Amino acid sequence: MRVLGIETSCDETGIAIYDSEAGLLGHALYSQVALHAEFGGVVPELASRDHIRKTLPLIREVMTHSNTGEGGIDGIAYTAGPGLLGALLVGAGIARSLAYGWGVPAIGVHHMEGHLLAPMLEPDPPEFPFVALLVSGGHTMLVRVEGIGRYELLGESLDDAAGEAFDKTAKLLGLGYPGGPAVAKLAEQGDPARFRFPRPMTDRPGLDFSFSGLKTFTLNTYKKNEGDEQARADIARAFEEAVVDTLAIKCRRALQQTGLTRLVIAGGVSANTQLRAKLDQLAEKERARVYYPRLEFCTDNGAMIAFAGCQRLAAGQHESLEFTGRARWPL
Ligand code: KG4
Ligand code: ZN
Repeated sequence: MRVLGIETSCDETGIAIYDSEAGLLGHALYSQVALHAEFGGVVPELASRDHIRKTLPLIREVMTHSNTGEGGIDGIAYTAGPGLLGALLVGAGIARSLAYGWGVPAIGVHHMEGHLLAPMLEPDPPEFPFVALLVSGGHTMLVRVEGIGRYELLGESLDDAAGEAFDKTAKLLGLGYPGGPAVAKLAEQGDPARFRFPRPMTDRPGLDFSFSGLKTFTLNTYKKNEGDEQARADIARAFEEAVVDTLAIKCRRALQQTGLTRLVIAGGVSANTQLRAKLDQLAEKERARVYYPRLEFCTDNGAMIAFAGCQRLAAGQHESLEFTGRARWPL
């Protein structure tokens, strides 16, 4: 089965073709980062309009590069949510229309399920069951994964997502959007011994997270050291270490609590080098193994949607001609 995947939930147009036998045949991504940069964040209306401009040309490009004609697609998967409603509806409308025209089934995929399954696109993928840490701009979750569609939420952020905390810290420090990579880069020049930030909710049992207090702590430290140029890098370093430590502590707890030995990390923040290093150390100590997507599939992409959709379509799931987007959608 050969599935076309369409991701338009936020500010990246991601297109891919996944074949259940041959694997990933092609993928392309158009990032709107430059479009939104001057506004310091994603402008939903501009995002929708740009998805309208880019989705069909990108589909054509990926089909050409993977030698797939119109008759070669057996199903279409699109991100149905969560995300920006207008942006989601662009992808859903195009997916449904093409599916109708080509006479193939289409399926709406949960964006976080896409992230969750992204490491399975790599050689030597994780076997079920595993614990997944999903860390993106909108979500921070620990999930016990028994199989496709069999997800048990172990813990989640009660307020800001980890990526959102990175983005807000970047804004505070006068860095651009998206903030995660910029904070990580500045942190490289920071002195790890200068500030110590709290590791929120690690002193009590449970697997939930909270990052909004850390944001306030960062703001207060910044205000106290205004004008001190080195303090910006030191703050970035202390902030990154606090987030990484907090995520690692909860991952260890999740492994111990479930007795599982496979840990999957996905979503934009899983591209963070410090987080990867910390979790590799943790895995060694816990005799567990960590699985990451390749860097380009940590952040939003079409390949993860094509893959997740392929699993569901192959299992016989499909939908009627109606479609909708869901701005909010529990996993
Ligand atoms: O998964 P993603 O592309 O989109 C959502 O589904 O939200 O994640 C984007 C988030 C942003 O908050 C971005 O700042 C963060 O991932 N991010 C990073 C890094 N690369 C992206 N955070 C920390 N370190 C990075 N290297
Ligand atoms: Zn995402």
